[in-house]
Amino acid sequence: MLSDRVSEIKPSPTVGLASIVRELRSKGEDVVSFGAGEPDFDTPGPIRAAGEKAIRDGRTHYTPGPGIPELREAIAKKLLRENQVHADVPNIVVSCGAKQAVFNALMALCNPGDEVLLLAPYWMTYRDQVVLAGGTPVPVPCNPDEGYVPSIEAIRERLSPKTRILIVNSPTNPTGAVYPRSLLKEIAALALRHDLYVISDEIYEKHVYDGAEHVSIASLGKEIAERTVTVNGFSKSHAMTGWRLGYSASNPQIAAAISKIQDQVTSNACSISQYAALAAFEQSDGEVRKMVEAFSRRREILMGEIAQVPGVTCQKPKGAFYLFVNVSAVLCGKVETDVALTEYLLREHKVACVPGSVFEGPGHIRLTYALSEDDLREGVQRIRQGLEALR
Ligand SMILES: Cc1ncc(COP(=O)(O)O)c(C=O)c1O
Repeated sequence: MLSDRVSEIKPSPTVGLASIVRELRSKGEDVVSFGAGEPDFDTPGPIRAAGEKAIRDGRTHYTPGPGIPELREAIAKKLLRENQVHADVPNIVVSCGAKQAVFNALMALCNPGDEVLLLAPYWMTYRDQVVLAGGTPVPVPCNPDEGYVPSIEAIRERLSPKTRILIVNSPTNPTGAVYPRSLLKEIAALALRHDLYVISDEIYEKHVYDGAEHVSIASLGKEIAERTVTVNGFSKSHAMTGWRLGYSASNPQIAAAISKIQDQVTSNACSISQYAALAAFEQSDGEVRKMVEAFSRRREILMGEIAQVPGVTCQKPKGAFYLFVNVSAVLCGKVETDVALTEYLLREHKVACVPGSVFEGPGHIRLTYALSEDDLREGVQRIRQGLEALR
């Protein structure tokens, strides 16, 4: 028998979707996929070159568990320079992706039965990681009319004596919401008043548009910094998804606990990736800017295309690289749910989208705009045809 914890979690829907798309394509099917949560760009050249050099130089051994000192130092400097977060080397643990960094933080902080607030719709991994860590996920609904920025009242309403952690993810996957400084200040005050820890997943920090500002909650004062685990990584900003590299910054006691947990699971993150990431800080700002500009253009294109599809609506997101499209008005007898709709669109119209239900946002589909401008137009055309055929 499998453990109760494992029985409660589901296979990753985006990984499942990616493998269906791969299989269809291998059979010669022409599928447009809005499913992938990763940049379609290659990793910038200087980072790849640094990775090649690391192999040539024999950087192929175990490294210290929390990461090589020079990378931890570079991360600490980056946090101060770009995020106004004060961190020294002992605060930083380099992990196999931001995903592992969030999991480590939950394992370090969550006792059995502790409640963890998730601002819904949220990245589905949080829920399953909370369950694996023995906690209880408690969703806090965010209002679509407020651009999915939560209200402090909604968060307050879900507090209980068991609440221990709040996960903040701004810019947000799947809605693209960017939380304003004023809200983050309110969240920080609430966390201090109720003795909560904050895990702040800032993996989409570079992907902000229309002058929106990314604010790290740990920059808002010494006290909240003490109670925050700031998580970030290289996957989305530097198109490094396959290198599996992320990090956390937290107070030295939490960082030591995170390091201890990671030591028993993966040991260090990949040595070659760590050396390559040094070039991410030193030489890749221009390429990151170009990628973000491309995402910004694509956001306009996808918004424009979706606006012409009858019956669906979408808020213009200020961050990340997704649109969270409300399809509730087009659900009907043949496709009664967002899950059924995405299955139908993939099967009959060869366009892959992620159902909103997996993010606790039923009646929606998530479309990534991390694909070429031609594919964006072609994909929406297929969605439009699919919806017309339902009428
Ligand atoms: C909100 C969020 N955090 C973290 C990750 C994972 O990042 P990494 O590739 O660094 O593990 C993702 C990937 O989709 C994400 O959407």
